[in-house]
Amino acid sequence: MQKGSFSLTTSFRVFYMRLTLVGFSFLHFSLVTGAQTECPLQLNPQRVVVRYGGSVAAKCNTSVPHKGMGWEASEGAVPMTKNQSLITWRVPELTEWDIKPFCYINYKDVDQCPVELPVTVYKTPDSVFISVNHNGPMKEGELYELQCDVHNVAPVQNLTVNWYKGQTLLDQTTFTDTSETPVNKTATLLIRPDRADDGAQYRCEAELDLGAEGPQPHPTISSKPLNVEVYYKPQHSSSTETIIKDDKVMLDCTVKANPASTYTWDHLKEKNSSSVLKSSALSPGNYTCTATNALGRDSKVFIVKSTDRTTFWAIVLTGVAVAVALIASYLIFKFGFSKNSVI
Ligand SMILES: *[C@@H]1O[C@H](CO)[C@@H](O)[C@H](O)[C@H]1NC(C)=O
Ligand SMILES: *[C@@H]1O[C@H](CO)[C@@H](O)[C@H](O)[C@H]1NC(C)=O
Repeated sequence: MQKGSFSLTTSFRVFYMRLTLVGFSFLHFSLVTGAQTECPLQLNPQRVVVRYGGSVAAKCNTSVPHKGMGWEASEGAVPMTKNQSLITWRVPELTEWDIKPFCYINYKDVDQCPVELPVTVYKTPDSVFISVNHNGPMKEGELYELQCDVHNVAPVQNLTVNWYKGQTLLDQTTFTDTSETPVNKTATLLIRPDRADDGAQYRCEAELDLGAEGPQPHPTISSKPLNVEVYYKPQHSSSTETIIKDDKVMLDCTVKANPASTYTWDHLKEKNSSSVLKSSALSPGNYTCTATNALGRDSKVFIVKSTDRTTFWAIVLTGVAVAVALIASYLIFKFGFSKNSVI
């Protein structure tokens, strides 16, 4: 039973596959060689791309004797003619989205052998608009969604939305649906801005790529730029800095942040201090500064050391002092001794 049903399924499958193959070969035959070979007609150009409301023309030519040829179309039809071998389909202002013109020939005993002219009617969008799902400044590291609204564009299968940050192409969005008539489309892009993106300009651009027959360069319509402000916390490039004490010391704690930081120094009492500390009175030691804004804080330690010159003079002075002390004690000793001997 099982074996039988199995082989039945298998043979059905083989049959079905053969059927499919035959079907495909037939389809292939009719697509590649069919119409053109069967109908002795040449179209020039073989396909057209035309702006909605624009003018369009295509020639249909034959080299065989015939009983009549013509163009069928909802606009610009050419009635059947018997004594011409070249007829032109022409529309000065095409205002039909789904026009399907075809040229035909009556020859031998074939009636109306047709060749279709593929026509792509396009329209650039009325407007392209960029927006973001958020009001006010963004925060570094968080996710935001940019939205691009493209109004009244056709055909959507030839539309690409290009996303730019400044001059840099970030991403491209294409659409899988097809439509001959104009549609409204929305594309989205997720971004995670960082501190370098503060002040960046995002924009989106609708591009129509209509193939080799289409307009070059591709028609593009850009949105206005979207300026973004990014909030980020202070972050010093290094958390410690060693300063050799000269006659004057400058400790610079300045760090970029948005909004701007406030600064505090652990050895000062004031809450809002300057980011730069200049002093001639700082003794060697550690000084900590903290930069703070709404998003966070970051500290930096300045290690103040005395200069090598100072150390040198300190050693010399100590040496001199010791020498003086020795000489003095020697003199006192000698003086005291002689004094004793006199007495
Ligand atoms: C596209 O949007 C415009 C304006 O919002 C609207 O008037 C129009 O009907 C829309 N078109 C389609 C095809 O949805
Ligand atoms: C864009 O348009 C051209 C001409 O109509 C067509 O050949 C091509 O397949 C289209 N591209 C896409 C992605 O549909």
